[in-house]
Amino acid sequence: MPALVLLGAQWGDEGKGKATDLLGGSVDYVVRYQGGNNAGHTVVVGDQKYALHLLPSGILSPGCTPVIGNGVVVDPSVLLSELSGLNERGVDTSKLLISGNAHIITPYNVTVDKVTERFLGKRKIGTTGRGIGPTYADKINRVGIRVQDLYDESILTQKVEAALDAKNQILTKLYNRRAIAADQVVEELLGYAEKIKPYVADTVLILNQALEDDKVVLFEGGQGTLLDIDHGTYPFVTSSNPTAGGACTGAGVGPTKISRVIGILKAYTTRVGSGPFPTELFDEDGEALRRIGGERGVTTGRDRRCGWFDAVIARYATRVNGLTDFFLTKLDVLTGWEEIPVCVAYEIDGKRVEELPYSQSDFHHAKPVYEMLPGWSEDISKAKSFSDLPKNAQAYVKALEEMSGAPISAIGVGPGRDETIEINSFL
Ligand code: GDP
Ligand code: IMO
Ligand code: MG
Repeated sequence: MPALVLLGAQWGDEGKGKATDLLGGSVDYVVRYQGGNNAGHTVVVGDQKYALHLLPSGILSPGCTPVIGNGVVVDPSVLLSELSGLNERGVDTSKLLISGNAHIITPYNVTVDKVTERFLGKRKIGTTGRGIGPTYADKINRVGIRVQDLYDESILTQKVEAALDAKNQILTKLYNRRAIAADQVVEELLGYAEKIKPYVADTVLILNQALEDDKVVLFEGGQGTLLDIDHGTYPFVTSSNPTAGGACTGAGVGPTKISRVIGILKAYTTRVGSGPFPTELFDEDGEALRRIGGERGVTTGRDRRCGWFDAVIARYATRVNGLTDFFLTKLDVLTGWEEIPVCVAYEIDGKRVEELPYSQSDFHHAKPVYEMLPGWSEDISKAKSFSDLPKNAQAYVKALEEMSGAPISAIGVGPGRDETIEINSFL
């Protein structure tokens, strides 16, 4: 009963979509367990490029059942437009399953996300503005709306009214905004109910039965380890648990069922939004990484902040997720540098520190300690095996593996499905 978790080992956008799609042909279920349409996962199949936000990347593999787990937050309008966008391109989405316990991103959650950010001004998180944080806040406050509530008008009305009671006070009195009418929200949500109904299922039961029947289940994380609400660079994080434990709570599968945890790791580092980033570059190298790596947000179109590889973060991701493997992506982007700096430790207030400091203030002061690794100039995008890589590229990968604490089992040398070097099989 192999159950694999595939997650981001840095600040998101590591190439999870590509990695999931690569495995999608060999797995029975691909499950999103947290986050929502803040994610932007790119999958390139032949000459077709897909940008998935809410739907699991497995939706592009015909034999695979895509599942939106209970830990995900679902914006129904985004869900329906993403589905119809794929249908128009000939993708069959009829197998999709959505947990009745997943929470709904309501229009007022989106409003609250945007006005809160505006109110924070310089201190803003730089959220995607999709209502993610406020929806999880409502869930924890026990005033959230769940998918199953769409099928009981009276309950839905009561819950929306209760949630808006407090929110309208805040919107009108604190943020100077217009109050939101509960009946309009209810009407909008009810308008989605029948369209979504065919997909709603008891996903916890289905996934556990699948595992008992020896089916292969892949849990696809959104965001990344350093954006985790518990283990990331709080408060500059997302409001869910992309780390491995989140797969258990967000899908209703016990930890004893998980056989492998794969960390997707970019050969350098990027981040979107605010927050500390020790290896961030503000020079031509940063510009070059952004240009060559195409580092622009899939969801918001914002330029991604770029920097060198940070082994301290990779080690941390290995630890908090119990990683069994890494999938190293975008090695091809580093082609052409004579020497490539890699951050092996931090200097904090004059002291060398090997591990991620728990103190936020220390992390804000962390200066990268770099080791220089020799670069390569040969085109590596056609490499099919590790031995096809130039010696210096091989040495770069081996050095990263040694520093990061888990074997690198696959290497991405381009965005396409087949632009991958497989070293150890994941299944
Ligand atoms: P995700 O959010 O983790 O799925 O990653 P994104 O899709 O936001 O960003 C990753 C970007 O890198 C996408 O444009 C991918 O097509 C691209 N990509 C993934 N793997 C590779 C790789 O090995 N090489 C190159 N050049 N691009 C890659
Ligand atoms: P994928 O799945 C990169 C960032 C936002 C912001 C912070 C909080 O494509 O890797 P939120 O809207 O979640 O409340 O924003 O998290 N963020 C991401 N950064 N990739 C993502 O997803 C992200 N999802 C959220 O930029 O800094
Ligand atoms: Mg992304």
